[in-house]
Order: sequence, then C-alpha cells, then structure tokens
Amino acid sequence: MTLHCGLIGDPVEHSISPGIHHAFAAQTGVDLKYRKLRCNSDELAATVEQFFAEGGRGLNVTLPHKLAVMALCSDVSQAAQRAQSVNTLYARDGGGVEGSSTDGDGLVADLRRLGAPLTGARIALIGAGGAARAVVEPLLSAQPAELVWSHRNPLKLEQPVADFAGLGPLRPCANLALKGDRFDLVIHATSAGHAGQVPMLPHGLFAEGGWAYDLSYGQPAQPYLNWAEGEGAARVIDGHGMLIEQAALSFALWTGQHPDTAPLHR
Ligand code: ATR
Repeated sequence: MTLHCGLIGDPVEHSISPGIHHAFAAQTGVDLKYRKLRCNSDELAATVEQFFAEGGRGLNVTLPHKLAVMALCSDVSQAAQRAQSVNTLYARDGGGVEGSSTDGDGLVADLRRLGAPLTGARIALIGAGGAARAVVEPLLSAQPAELVWSHRNPLKLEQPVADFAGLGPLRPCANLALKGDRFDLVIHATSAGHAGQVPMLPHGLFAEGGWAYDLSYGQPAQPYLNWAEGEGAARVIDGHGMLIEQAALSFALWTGQHPDTAPLHR
C-alpha cells in the first residue's frame, strides 16, 4: 500500500523535500509518494482535512503555517506546543491527526553529525521568530554550558524565555549587548538573510575555534555565513544538513523506519 505524504506551505515550489523523502523511501523499501501542496492561510484547514480524509499518512508543514496548523491537530506534542511550531502531521491509528516538530531535533542531529560544539559549549541563538523557538528546547536538551538567546529587541524575548523556563541555562540578551561575550557556536535564526541582510551584531563573538550555523540553506544563509567568516569563525555551516535530518525524523514518524541520512549529506 502506498503511503501518501507531502508538504503544505506557501510557497513550496522551491522545496527539495520530495527528493529527500523519495531517496529515503528507495533506501528503506517503503512505498511512499511525497508531493507539494501549495495552500494559503484561508485554504489551510480544508487542505489538511481533505488530505487526511483521503487516507494521507503525513504532512510536513512549512511557512507560513507552522503555528496555525496546531489548531487543526487532535493532539500536539509537548515540545511542539512549547515551540508553538508544528512541522510534521501524521494520521493516528485510531483516527485524528497528531502534530509534532522535528526541526530542533534535526538541528541537534546535524550538529552532532558535524562534531560541532554542543554539550558543555557556550551557544548564542540570534532571532526570536518561529524558527528560533523551534530549536530552543532541543538545544537545551543537549546540555550546553549556556544558551544565550539574543534579539534586536530584548522585550520580545520576555515571554519566549518564560515559556522555556526550567529547561536549562537560558539567558536573554539584546544583540548589541552581546559585545564582549564569546561563543563556541553562534546560530543565526532571523529572516534577515532572505533580504540579503545580516543582523547588526558586535565584533568578536566567536571564541577560538568557534562555529557559525545558519538555520536557512542556500542563498539566504550566505550573508550571515560570509559575515561570520570575516569574523574569524572556524567553520561556517548552512542548514542543508538540518533539512535532511528533520526530514529523516518526519519519515520515521510516518513509516517507523529510520533512514540512513549519510548518503544525502553533501
Ligand atoms: P521565522 O518564522 O522564519 O523565524 P519570523 O517569525 O518572521 O520568521 O521571525 C524572524 C525573526 O528575525 C524575528 O525575530 C525578527 O525580528 P523582529 O521580531 O524584531 O521582527 C528577526 N529579524 C528579521 N530581520 C532582522 C534584522 N535585519 N536584524 C535582526 N533581526 C531580524
């Protein structure tokens, strides 16, 4: 029986997820078809409902629906609730649709694969939107020495930091107040790169051997990674590996099979 899966978002044309999931399917021998479903916010509920009514197994969710789709789930994992972000929907055996987020665990899996500074490391996370929220709890689970969550307007961090209280050493900071601090890993999670920009950040953020990681991949990651290289970061990495790792975690939720991601990393 073919498992039908897909991606909902707007836009979705650019997505390379179908190729990733079809490669996992070929590798594991699972009969799975993955397609792109473009829908705007007004069409979201009807699209999701119809997909699962027709026997669909699971959906990935991308911008701008990661928050709104939570209202359509019968159940949302605790981590996804805290993150206020769902990137994976799957049909439950007894009926209903479960929502979870594999973005943050995908990031941590990629950082581990690369041997990036993580456990015991000083990590900065720049930006306070949905992309940043989705990775906070998995990063704290990896037990860094400290996770400094930084935003251009620190007032915007008050509620998010309260939402993750008690999960680990999380400290809010204003971007410009990072001056004088040094990090083993600086993760960029703002949308500035989509406009070809880099947030205003102080010089000297990278500790000796410090890494830079951008949650986006391809062109939008370049402004930050170029800046980080100029600042002396030892390694600069875009989010292509995170995309593959989060896809593998979604694939496992839908199929029960854990694909080997190594052949897909470039
Ligand atoms: P996403 O869901 O991709 O995270 P988002 O929710 O729009 O997108 O969040 C984008 C984040 O990037 C926000 O924290 C945004 O800051 P504001 O909340 O002040 O808008 C941040 N951001 C965007 N452009 C930025 C820039 N040039 N400098 C610093 N932060 C920026």
